[in-house]
Amino acid sequence: CGIVGIIGKSAREIVLNGLSKLEYRGYDSAGIYLNDLAGKEFLTKTTGRIQDLKNKMKPDEQGQVGIGHTRWATHGKPTEANAHPQFDETKRFYLVHNGVIENYQDLRKKYLNNASFKSDTDTEVIVQLISKIAREKNVDALTALKEVLTMIKGSYALLLVDNQHPDHIYIAKNKSPLLLGLGADFNVIASDALSVLDQTKTFVDLHDGEVGDITKNGYQIETISGAQVTREPYQLNVAEDAASKGTYDFYMLKEICEQPGVLRHLDQFYLDQNGKPKVSAAIIDALAKADKLYIFAAGTSYHAGLVGKLLFEKLTKIPTEVGFASEAGYHFPMMSQHPFFIFLSQSGETADSRVVLQEAIKRNIPSLTLTNVPESTLAREANYSMALEAGPEIAVASTKAYTAQVAVQAVIAKALGEKMGDDAAAAFKLKQNLALAAEGIEQVVSNQEKIEQLAQKDLIPSRNAFYIGRGIDYPVALEAALKLKEVSYIQTEGFAAAELKHGTISLIEKGTPVIALINDPLTADLMRGNIQEVVARGANVITIVNKSLAQTGDDIILPEVDYFLSPLVTVVVTQLLAYFAAKDKGLDVDKPRNLAKSVTVE
Ligand code: G6P
Repeated sequence: CGIVGIIGKSAREIVLNGLSKLEYRGYDSAGIYLNDLAGKEFLTKTTGRIQDLKNKMKPDEQGQVGIGHTRWATHGKPTEANAHPQFDETKRFYLVHNGVIENYQDLRKKYLNNASFKSDTDTEVIVQLISKIAREKNVDALTALKEVLTMIKGSYALLLVDNQHPDHIYIAKNKSPLLLGLGADFNVIASDALSVLDQTKTFVDLHDGEVGDITKNGYQIETISGAQVTREPYQLNVAEDAASKGTYDFYMLKEICEQPGVLRHLDQFYLDQNGKPKVSAAIIDALAKADKLYIFAAGTSYHAGLVGKLLFEKLTKIPTEVGFASEAGYHFPMMSQHPFFIFLSQSGETADSRVVLQEAIKRNIPSLTLTNVPESTLAREANYSMALEAGPEIAVASTKAYTAQVAVQAVIAKALGEKMGDDAAAAFKLKQNLALAAEGIEQVVSNQEKIEQLAQKDLIPSRNAFYIGRGIDYPVALEAALKLKEVSYIQTEGFAAAELKHGTISLIEKGTPVIALINDPLTADLMRGNIQEVVARGANVITIVNKSLAQTGDDIILPEVDYFLSPLVTVVVTQLLAYFAAKDKGLDVDKPRNLAKSVTVE
């Protein structure tokens, strides 16, 4: 799931620190290979954390070349043998790999019947094949690697060291992210720039189907078929400390608290003094030609898309559909005459979304990616991209990227609606309401203690919970439920409030927490009725209610914001409920079990 490699500098600390910075992405095992260029090499692997890896290594295990990996298990359990680096049976080649090789079993049967395997991984098949080809055809590592790349099907970002020529790291990429970082007398390679920003800010991207030969003083990139690639390096302007936790216990809380700042920054970035959107005319012109918008995403970003649909339809009157990218990729929806695709992705690397984008490219459907990582694959490959400008999001559970996605969709919807002469768009006071939402979030955050008490009293003792809402609160209920379950492990479902009575109400027992979101004036009375239905069955209800709709006894009163932007504030209460439920259960809030921050496998 995370890769760091370096050549030309004392490698151990740099690789281990880099891997630590990728810990947030979620992983279940880790490993490192070091070569001191004087005949000594060291391989260490563990099923635990990077700290366990550090503890296992002796002080004299050092190297001038190093490759390291954190693994999120796909093929084979999270055991030490399955951790990377993987090596061949002659112990000449060492390989770390992100991604999935789809035809590894066929390759193993066909070419490696007699090889002795130490792991159940697809990765070991690659390294064994490289070794076999190098040996039998008497070719160098790069040639063998390129030949293997023509045989494998699937996704990969990989680093390879050949201990017969350890002053090179060979790299390759297809569908999984990989960057080369340039230094003076050293070079680094990483799956995420954040992990090596303390070493360099100068990067060169690798594209799909490319391989590289990296030494301490140079690098060569070419395609698998051997065509030389020249690509200008670029500077990445991210402050190193943007990714530090500061005084917070967990990144999740830090990122929740950063949301007012993110909204104020987006106001500056995307709106002028008078509240007019500053969005590239090319993007708005392209969108204005669409007769239907299709939003594709996964996880939390999908939930932001559901709010986006309401914003687009309200402000532009263009029918908008939202889909899971993972489903659309293989069951492409029926298209309108002039579709336009919008991809929402914090990381810009989600493999499921990329499949849909590739299909859109094939069919000439125009596309826009909204992402927090402007250099990411989805940003690069779509026709247009816009930045979420939320700053690095480290906690696996997404918070500020969600609010940024809602806000940026509001900007686009307003810009597009105004261009199309829509009255609702012209009347939509986005600037004022972003300011109100920022203040509103500050109020919510300053009410943390109350939210923590609710989490302790009602949520922590329970195995399950429900969020209910109507109108704009329904997608927020889905996101709130995801947040609570992913970090606290309390099984939670989000429901359109009235649907509960059509089946799921049978799960309500004495003490079941039901959290009701009430921002919709049209259905507020009906929500109160739905609350009574679950109270009558013993539920413990927590109400999160807009000030204008509040009644005596409500738990959390939300400051007023435009209905269509109310998710920006409501969601923060639910983020804090999730945070405290997890933290007060003693869980590792930033790294929930089994999850990864960016999922580059389908
Ligand atoms: C992973 C993360 C989720 C995230 C989803 C989509 O599953 O754990 O938090 O919402 O991927 O990620 P993206 O980067 O495309 O927004």
